[in-house]
Amino acid sequence: MPFSTLPYQTGFYRGKVRDVYSIGSDWLIMLASDRISAFDVILPRTIPFKGQVLNQIAAHMLRQCADICPNWLLDVPAPNVSAGWKCEPFKIEIVVRGTLTGHAWRTYQSGSRQLCGIPLPEGLNENASFPTPIITPSTKAAAGHDEDIAADEIIRQQLATPEEYRMICEYALALFERGRQLAHARGLILADTKYEFGKRDGKIYLMDEIHTPDSSRYFRAEGFEEKVGKGEKPEQLSKEFVREWLMSEGFMGQAGQAIPEMTDERVHEISNRYIQLYEKVTGENFIPNPFSEKETVELMKKCAQRLVEG
Ligand SMILES: Nc1ncnc2c1ncn2[C@@H]1O[C@H](COP(=O)(O)OP(=O)(O)OP(=O)(O)O)[C@@H](O)[C@H]1O
Ligand SMILES: [Mg+2]
Repeated sequence: MPFSTLPYQTGFYRGKVRDVYSIGSDWLIMLASDRISAFDVILPRTIPFKGQVLNQIAAHMLRQCADICPNWLLDVPAPNVSAGWKCEPFKIEIVVRGTLTGHAWRTYQSGSRQLCGIPLPEGLNENASFPTPIITPSTKAAAGHDEDIAADEIIRQQLATPEEYRMICEYALALFERGRQLAHARGLILADTKYEFGKRDGKIYLMDEIHTPDSSRYFRAEGFEEKVGKGEKPEQLSKEFVREWLMSEGFMGQAGQAIPEMTDERVHEISNRYIQLYEKVTGENFIPNPFSEKETVELMKKCAQRLVEG
């Protein structure tokens, strides 16, 4: 790292979406950028306000779920920035699914009747609800695509101990249930979501973003069952519409496929959909971030100082 931006900074990592600053040995400050990724590829244009939308939904949801398990969030110094405990990540993503949607549907449609070792019945429509939510973990690949992994494989590869994995699954199901209740109260269905867990001080912590349009799929509840029963597409409120647009243009993140051109209109439309989602999911009016990049850095500096100096 050539220089430090923040006081007490000990590291910097640029994720696909977030700029992650390590502060001292115990903390992280994460700036959610307006970068957008789909199929694990960063698209060529940024989406105005997307970072703020993600950050504020995640913070809202982490606070609403704070009684279920320890979570990493301590502070939101700017609309697009969060700060909290740095955890030692488990190298797995815990995907919880209430419906046969997205990757699960694409797998089912290709003829497979098994997901991460969990058998699925014949004759399901796209987006059909499971009797109870299922956990379909995936590996958190350092580069490239995450892949489904069965629970016994997680244990065999020592990605978590049996006791840790049991605890993680218990937390994930309770978080998903809360996420469903919060969505329901807003006229939405939380179809599926992804959680990441880590360890700190010997305890399991929920980390990263939760229940955001990038980590989850939401549907409008009204008319959902009827549409699914008729094999029609229910109305989605999540990043899936970006994935569907990319797929309709022949892009699924595979080598050799070209990313389709993103026009100003397309960028504007995606931005608006993120903002609508924020308002729908949280029930609050969206207030555009008033801070310049320079002001944001100042707020992050003060936050780093508070974290370390108390
Ligand atoms: N509290 C935490 N402690 C440690 N790591 C965390 C914590 N919260 C989130 N992370 C990690 O920080 C990164 C956030 O960056 P971002 O969301 O841009 O990454 P991503 O695109 O999801 O994944 P990748 O890291 O593969 O690019 C993720 O790798 C996530 O696992
Ligand atoms: Mg992420």
